[in-house]
This record gives sequence, C-alpha cells and structure tokens, in this order.
Amino acid sequence: MNDENNILTKEFLPNHVAIIMDGNGRWAKKQGLMRVAGHESGTKSVKETVEYAAKWGIKFLTLYAFSTENWKRPKPEVDTLMNLLMNALKKELPTLQKNGIRLNAIGRLSQLPKKAYAQLQEVMTLTKSNSNMILTLALSYGAREELEQAVKNIAIKVKNNIISPDGIDQSTINNHLYTHNLPDVDLMIRTSGELRISNFLLWQAAYAELFFTPVLWPDFRKENLQEALVDYQKRERRFGKTSEQLT
Ligand code: FPP
Repeated sequence: MNDENNILTKEFLPNHVAIIMDGNGRWAKKQGLMRVAGHESGTKSVKETVEYAAKWGIKFLTLYAFSTENWKRPKPEVDTLMNLLMNALKKELPTLQKNGIRLNAIGRLSQLPKKAYAQLQEVMTLTKSNSNMILTLALSYGAREELEQAVKNIAIKVKNNIISPDGIDQSTINNHLYTHNLPDVDLMIRTSGELRISNFLLWQAAYAELFFTPVLWPDFRKENLQEALVDYQKRERRFGKTSEQLT
C-alpha cells in the first residue's frame, strides 16, 4: 500500500489519533541491544509518524510517551527516556514549526525532571500559534489518575458553591480532564501485539476504533500508520445506532 494508489482518502480521516507506542524493549532485545537502544530507535518512529500524520491533515495526534507506572522502571532507563525527550524536543522544534504543529502535553507534568519540564514548556510556548495539528505528549500520564484529579477538582468547586451536584454532567467531567482542549479519540493504535489500553485516555476513547498491530514501535513506519488509517476508513462508526439509521 502506498500514497500513489490512493486508497487513503482525505475525507474520512480520524480527527484524533492516539498511539500507545509499545515494544521498544523487545525490539532492542531481539537485536541483542540494551533496552535504551529501543527507545532511541523509537524516536525515529515518532518523527516519521508525526510528519506523516501532519502531511495527511490529522488535526490531533496524541502519543503515550511515559506512563505514571513507568517511573517504576530502573533509574538509568527513566533518565534515558527523559534525555531522549529533551533532545528530541530541541532537535525537532524546526520540524514542528515547518509543519505548523503545536506541542501540547498531558499528565502529571510537575513530576518531570526540572530540565525536561522547562524544555517542554519552551517548545509549547514557541509553537503555541501553530494550528495545523496539535501534537500531545502524554508524560507521567495515567487515565485513572487524571480522573481522580478531575473528581477532586470538581468536588472542591462543589464545596465552594461554584457548581452544584445537579449541574455536573459529562461536559463538566470533560472540562476537568488534562485533555479539556482536545476532542474524543477516533482511532487508538497500539503496537507490539499487546491487546490492552493500559490506562490510556479511558474516558476520551469511549467510542474510539481500536487498531492493534504486531509491529514493534521502533519498526513502525509511515506505511504502518497508513495501514491503520485505511483500516479506520473501512469501519462503520455507529455510536450505538443501527446501520440503517446512519444512512
Ligand atoms: C514502550 O516500550 C515505550 C515507552 C515506555 C516509551 C516511548 C518512548 C519513545 C518512543 C521515545 C521518546 C519519545 C518521544 C516523544 C520523543 P517498552 O519499553 O514498554 O517495550 P517492551 O514492552 O518491549 O519492554
């Protein structure tokens, strides 16, 4: 499959694509390398994915780069991931600018090392007027933690009479999530053959189409993203309705 045979059409693209980038460690092990080599190689897949998504006009791309649970990994691996993130942000700023991509981040960002946090803030500020695509990095992110925070913040507002319990609806919850400025996920992709959502965007992916591929993240190329997008275009999204109601 390639661009030329025109299988992918511009009309039915997902608005919001979210990716669980998995399999870096297994990829490295298969090559007889250290796990961190898998993460290093995975940054190339990030670049290719971002550029291809932007080229096709995907408006929102969200990447699961570091979960709340990932802090439990050996310190050298955590340090490497943080350094890779900082270097990639520095190096790819021109790519973001050239493609009109705005950088956004979700998660408990205050837990990031100071330098990584500062670099992230800098790139977010420098790209804030870009409007072709919003690239969101989920960093120190966990969906249950996000929901816990949202419930706490809503409870505080109820206590302070800013909102009433009867006034709480789904949009109230949405507005208190890290993703308050993002639409629902249309397509969630997970690499490496694992068939799980792993605490990623649980609320936002309620009606997402799921695409699982055995490809390990460092091997993920634009053809693989294209395959997922083509597959998405064949899905019938009913949102609880019948097929007949949709036509
Ligand atoms: C999962 O593979 C991947 C991660 C925990 C980190 C993803 C990070 C990158 C792709 C690199 C840096 C990111 C950016 C945004 C520049 P794993 O280690 O869980 O693999 P395994 O399941 O095979 O062990």
